[in-house]
Amino acid sequence: MSTESSGRWDIVTRAGHWLVAGLFLANQFFTDPEESWHHYFGYSIVAIVLLRLIWGLTFARGPNRLSCFIPSKTAITEHLRALRQREPYDTVGHNPFGAMAIYLMWAGLLLLALTGWIEYYAIANFIDFADLHEVLGEGLLLLVGVHVSAVIAMSLYQRVNLIRAMIFGRFR
Ligand code: HEM
Ligand code: HEM
Repeated sequence: MSTESSGRWDIVTRAGHWLVAGLFLANQFFTDPEESWHHYFGYSIVAIVLLRLIWGLTFARGPNRLSCFIPSKTAITEHLRALRQREPYDTVGHNPFGAMAIYLMWAGLLLLALTGWIEYYAIANFIDFADLHEVLGEGLLLLVGVHVSAVIAMSLYQRVNLIRAMIFGRFR
């Protein structure tokens, strides 16, 4: 969405992404929820997501700034038009659908950790937080599936390796 073709994913975005992805998958599939690791991993995700949000609102530059990927109606229309006409698309920054998924993933991750914490310390019980924690985790997993499929599909369609860009920072 940004027009800066020299744009790069900075280290906060990149390191944050792979750490959050790894910690999320570890908690979803490998850690024992009764053990401390599960909880530390969850709190670490919260810390990294909050740091990313603060960074995106303050010192981040180019496509790393949150203001560069606000999923507005105009952005969606423009994105769809460019896709339909198979225009050489500006691949720097998150597209508006990616942006929607990203904000949903951030919100989901924060809620997931919050519900796990509430359940573990029995802070409230007006609903079944264990169930909610489980359902949120599965919902997020589904969204991650869509996210990764979309990344692969867009990489093929635009002939730009988006995964490589999220590892090394450069788009081209
Ligand atoms: C393991 C396979 C994964 C791959 C290959 C992958 C790849 C990517 C890529 C290429 C982007 C940048 C997309 C773009 O160019 O707009 C991205 C962004 C993002 N992904 Fe993933 N991802 C993976 C897993 C995950 C998981 C498990 C989560 C969360 C639970 C996640 C959350 C995010 C978020 C929040 C962003 C936005 C990053 C930011 O701006 O800080 N990803 N991912
Ligand atoms: C944010 C990342 C997190 C993920 C991906 C995650 C994922 C999961 C998963 C998959 C389960 C098993 C659900 C089931 O099949 O019963 C679970 C259970 C649990 N989690 Fe988390 N969790 C996270 C964070 C936390 C945090 C921060 C805490 C507490 C401080 C926590 C506490 C628990 C507890 C106590 C259970 C046992 C629930 C039960 O009774 O089944 N989780 N979590």
